[in-house]
Amino acid sequence: MGLLLYEEKGHVGILTINRPEALNALNSALIDALSVKLDEISATTIRCLIVTGTGEKSFVAGADISEMKDMNPEEAEAFSAAGNVAMEKVERLHMPVIAAVNGFALGGGLELALACDIRLCSENAMFGLPEVGLGIPPGYGGVQRLARIIGIAKAKELAFTTDRIKAPEALALGLVSAVYPLGELMDAAMQMADKIASNSPMGVWAAKVVANSSVGLPLTKTAGLEVPLFGECFNTNDQKQAMTAFLEKRKPEPFMGK
Ligand code: HXC
Repeated sequence: MGLLLYEEKGHVGILTINRPEALNALNSALIDALSVKLDEISATTIRCLIVTGTGEKSFVAGADISEMKDMNPEEAEAFSAAGNVAMEKVERLHMPVIAAVNGFALGGGLELALACDIRLCSENAMFGLPEVGLGIPPGYGGVQRLARIIGIAKAKELAFTTDRIKAPEALALGLVSAVYPLGELMDAAMQMADKIASNSPMGVWAAKVVANSSVGLPLTKTAGLEVPLFGECFNTNDQKQAMTAFLEKRKPEPFMGK
């Protein structure tokens, strides 16, 4: 069994972090494999990706502490940089990415979930940034992304205190979109992924690009960002046939991504 499992169901890819003996903790080999796999996924035509962890206890319990313990500063920087690259690859995939958080999402595990577009979780999920209790700050872009999602004060509080939060609080904070019994999480994620995949790939991609490029910026800087992408969609048959179908009061044909 590899450190990553990957399968496709229809238009949806499912990527599973597979290191259950360490609660799916991210070591260098796993980060490298993730980076390579994300490049491969970006070259596919899948329309939505689900990221989850093996087992019933943990999504990802952070970066690997046993590997980090004896690193020197240069090695630590390289370890942080490699993880940052992988997180950015997740964020920039052309298709939406749903994190199906099936247990602990701590440290680098929460940071991975934050790089995804949408987070769903199981009732036993637990979120937190334990890094400062280990003598380090979060190192995979977690503070920046968490601040954008739940606000800077709460993000700072979680990063400074290392407090762990459970699924209901994560839901209340908007960190996750929904909470499911563990046994229903993947079905729910698949259902959402299928719904996304049934829409026009170019429309979804354009919406993702605009959301990613505009978050945190004032409207004066982002007004009109979508204009060229909006225009580009009118080169597609998907747009023509869907609008025709509406006017003919029928359902559109399945979207083809062109
Ligand atoms: C290495 C880990 C690990 C981790 C768990 N394990 N998390 N190994 N790195 N982050 C290993 C344990 O050592 C143990 O191995 C096995 O997984 C099972 O874990 P237990 O601790 O026995 O399970 P449990 O008692 O249920 O506790 C679960 C847990 C705890 C609460 C999640 O494992 C835990 O606190 N883990 C560390 C969480 C953490 O601090 N994450 C942040 C890391 S720093 P053995 O061999 O004993 O069975 C980080 C930085 C990111 O993420 C940025 C880097 C640049």
